[in-house]
Amino acid sequence: MKAEILRLLRETNGYVSGQELCEQFGVSRTAVWKAIKQLQAMGYEIEAVPNRGYFLKSAADVLSKDEIASLLHTQWIGKELYCYDTIGSTNARAKELAEQECENGTLVVADQQTQGRGRRGRSWQTPPQMGIAMSLLLRPEISPGNASMLTLVTALAVANAITGLSGVEAMIKWPNDVVMNGRKVCGILTEMNAQFDYISYIVIGIGINVHNEEFPEELSQMAGSILTESGKRIHRAELVARIMAYFEQYYATFLETEDLTGMLEAYNQLLVNRGREVKVLDPKEPFSGKAVGITKKGELMVDTWSSRKLVSSGEVSVRGIYGYV
Ligand code: BTN
Repeated sequence: MKAEILRLLRETNGYVSGQELCEQFGVSRTAVWKAIKQLQAMGYEIEAVPNRGYFLKSAADVLSKDEIASLLHTQWIGKELYCYDTIGSTNARAKELAEQECENGTLVVADQQTQGRGRRGRSWQTPPQMGIAMSLLLRPEISPGNASMLTLVTALAVANAITGLSGVEAMIKWPNDVVMNGRKVCGILTEMNAQFDYISYIVIGIGINVHNEEFPEELSQMAGSILTESGKRIHRAELVARIMAYFEQYYATFLETEDLTGMLEAYNQLLVNRGREVKVLDPKEPFSGKAVGITKKGELMVDTWSSRKLVSSGEVSVRGIYGYV
């Protein structure tokens, strides 16, 4: 009931009477009062005024199930929602849930990860109360060969949601890092369980630095958080909800063509590498050139002195000539 109370308080412009809450949820005034007390103890500032009712002044910055559920406006994502204070890795948990037949759209969110994983076997840090670690379980009926484009779809959703909440433009470093002022604030790790022509499930893991102010020495040049880059302390659950709303929209567009045709323009607009010299770190044959945009299949087009090359994500990584971007 707490999630529903929060949603009603949020969606009402002004006070919600105790009577209205009782009627809405079919419970006694004491039950409503108890739930309000619990929410206040959790850090929600709820004003209770006799004869007027309850008013939500400010919400706790928590990643609880009640908080996220009260903010989600999605059609199908997050109907099954698992939230943890601490977990090893949300990707690992989402994969376990996938093996237990959990449904398409299941969302796993954690405040802290102790064994967070990054791309290329690296680790990913999510210290408590600083960021967001979340994983989305999908069971799409698409060709396994097209699945890697979903990381680009996700990056677009994350970048738009961050820009909307922080007021500072978040951009995408191809294929799927989200950057602000050239610093990485979000990484995405997509994992898939598939036969050669059939996807059993996909887990998209999203790690976002939200309030972090310090980073390990080796990352200090390239990492940032929404706080360090915008000066704003945004509400984490709101960001989760906005990302998922954008994702649902872009995912539907993706499924229409099974490629990025419908969001090519939007992605290229946010591509931080566009028009810049990049180094393509291909272990066999590294080369440099100017990044000009992506194709509808998600490849990066790089113009070298002799020809245009198409770079596939997964094979190689791309760096700026002078640094990370
Ligand atoms: C990267 O290397 O840039 C990708 C980082 C992905 C981190 C996220 S945090 C949530 C999910 N769970 C994990 O263990 N990893 C991903």
